[in-house]
Amino acid sequence: MNVPIKTPDEIEKMREAGRQAASVLEMIAPHVKAGANTGELDRLCHDYIVNELGSTPAPLNYHGYPKSICTSINHVVCHGIPDPAKKLKHGDIMNMDITVKTADGYHGDSSVMFIVGESILGERLCRVTQECLYHSIALVRPGVRLSTLAQAIQRHAEANGYSVVRDFCGHGIGATFHEEPQVLHYDGYAPEADIELAAGMCFTIEPMINVGSHKTKVLRDGWTAVTRDKSLSAQWEHTLLVTETGVEVLTRRGDEDLSFLER
Ligand code: MF3
Ligand code: CO
Ligand code: CO
Repeated sequence: MNVPIKTPDEIEKMREAGRQAASVLEMIAPHVKAGANTGELDRLCHDYIVNELGSTPAPLNYHGYPKSICTSINHVVCHGIPDPAKKLKHGDIMNMDITVKTADGYHGDSSVMFIVGESILGERLCRVTQECLYHSIALVRPGVRLSTLAQAIQRHAEANGYSVVRDFCGHGIGATFHEEPQVLHYDGYAPEADIELAAGMCFTIEPMINVGSHKTKVLRDGWTAVTRDKSLSAQWEHTLLVTETGVEVLTRRGDEDLSFLER
């Protein structure tokens, strides 16, 4: 396995890509509310990425994907397709996943959960899933193995009675949307895939956590992944850079508290 190490010039371009992806999530947040339809949210993000950022929404036409963002509601695990006929309602939870490709050709990939109105079960799931992401980010530094990150995610999810999705994983990212390494979120590595992190690597961590079983299936549209048992699923994602001393969260949002990284 040959995991790309970014040059200082590429790292600057990744920083810009990460900032752009974060800015889309900041822009769209006030529009996510009961009654909004996901087709309109897709259009708003698409227009912002193209017209305000001068960039491209990477999902559009990616292996035939039909829209510019992913909107995954309730039991949808990931890759939910925005749809003008799909209105958000009180109590829904939704993951919105944004990937921007800058004019320089570099990718920033990030997703967050939105809770529409109120959901006690949904709030707990979303909080624990974000904690899974944060616990693993806190471990990132040169010399750490990917399996150590996966174990931290799985331990925290299962300690809270949840399961970790196995059918989708995080990934290296750069001029290519998905590159080496694969970043599993559960302890299932083949030993040869269990690489040690090194400064200059860029990758995502994007745990998908289910209230019920970890099993998923893809609907007939070829994209929408759902939990087989219809249980709720949540996901959070950041694009990361491994630094000499630890980690830089390239897709950090302005209001996001990452003080847990100060150590
Ligand atoms: N953004 C997703 C990821 O985190 C990938 C979406 S690919 C698409 O890797 F085609 F479904 F948009
Ligand atoms: Co990703
Ligand atoms: Co993503």
